Amino acid sequence: MNILVTGGAGYIGSHTCLSLLEAGHDVCVADNFSNSKEAPLSRIQEITGRRLQFYRIDLTQKASLSRVFESHRFDAVIHFAGLKAVGESVRVPLAYYYNNIVGSLVLFELMGAYGVKNIVFSSSATVYGEPEKVPIQESFPVCPTNPYGRTKLYIENILRDLYAADPQWNIAILRYFNPVGAHPSGRIGEDPNDIPNNLMPFISQVAVGKQPALFVYGNDYPTHDGTGVRDYIHVMDLAEGHVHALNRLRADPGLATYNLGTGRGASVLEMIAAFEKASGKPIPYKIASRREGDIAVCYADPALAEKELGWTAKRGINEMCEDAWRWQSKNPDGYT
Ligand code: WQD
Repeated sequence: MNILVTGGAGYIGSHTCLSLLEAGHDVCVADNFSNSKEAPLSRIQEITGRRLQFYRIDLTQKASLSRVFESHRFDAVIHFAGLKAVGESVRVPLAYYYNNIVGSLVLFELMGAYGVKNIVFSSSATVYGEPEKVPIQESFPVCPTNPYGRTKLYIENILRDLYAADPQWNIAILRYFNPVGAHPSGRIGEDPNDIPNNLMPFISQVAVGKQPALFVYGNDYPTHDGTGVRDYIHVMDLAEGHVHALNRLRADPGLATYNLGTGRGASVLEMIAAFEKASGKPIPYKIASRREGDIAVCYADPALAEKELGWTAKRGINEMCEDAWRWQSKNPDGYT
């Protein structure tokens, strides 16, 4: 299939483009490079030996995006493009609503106009907010607690309304848990613009000496060791989940929502220990107060994706840390 990947130069987008090329799909990337660089796109082509096309484009620029649809006959779209930092979304909510929602509206409008009605949408477990219980199923109530999470839920609902109005749309909504790790080549990986907000890239930077120590945000949570528990999923498992979702759209059209997680939780202290083992580097840390908005425990029930997508996460915490360390140690300053 000929796939348009919005945000395809980003962390999850670039790994998904690699999996798409390896699965024999043709890939065209649209990215404004606001939170990514061009480098991963050439490295993906080196790794796979296959070409991809890309356009530096902002989805809110309708005329520019229309020219891309004019020049290609896409079979489907995988939509990653969007701002994604929870804390930043609280500080600048309008930027998040405008960029994420207007960009999606322009994209969906052009997809309909050009008869491209197959879409995989990059959503997030953050739409659940504080879950009533774990593991989290897709049918659980959704109640995002920050503007970023609300943009993801609003875009999900726009897609549900689109499908209700025109059942010719085929829509897979994928709710990611905590993506970590990197392609085993160490040539592509997570390259945050500033000081990382997320745990794993911060730990990676401590290991490589870019950060002096990690602050553990709270050790008084009701968990086995007092630190936050999350469902960390290898970014390659996540990427492969998108290929499976595309296949499902072809085999069994309609609209469906899936949790992409491992179904297993790991604590902050467990991730520190796993990374020290993988890297052979000490990760000094200090216990700090809880981070505003954090929840104690969050992990997926991935049974629906296993049943309907024929997909399950295969890689464990140790492989996530080994692959993350290989990327970070080979690229201490990311793609620059
Ligand atoms: C994980 C754990 C922290 C940093 C976020 C977004 C979510 C999704 C994934 C996009 C928590 C602790 C973290 C640090 C720490 N992104 N921590 N010190 O908050 O579960 O989810 O990223 O879709 O939307 O909310 O991930 O990596 O920030 O935190 O102790 O320096 O690590 O308290 O328990 P989170 P995270």
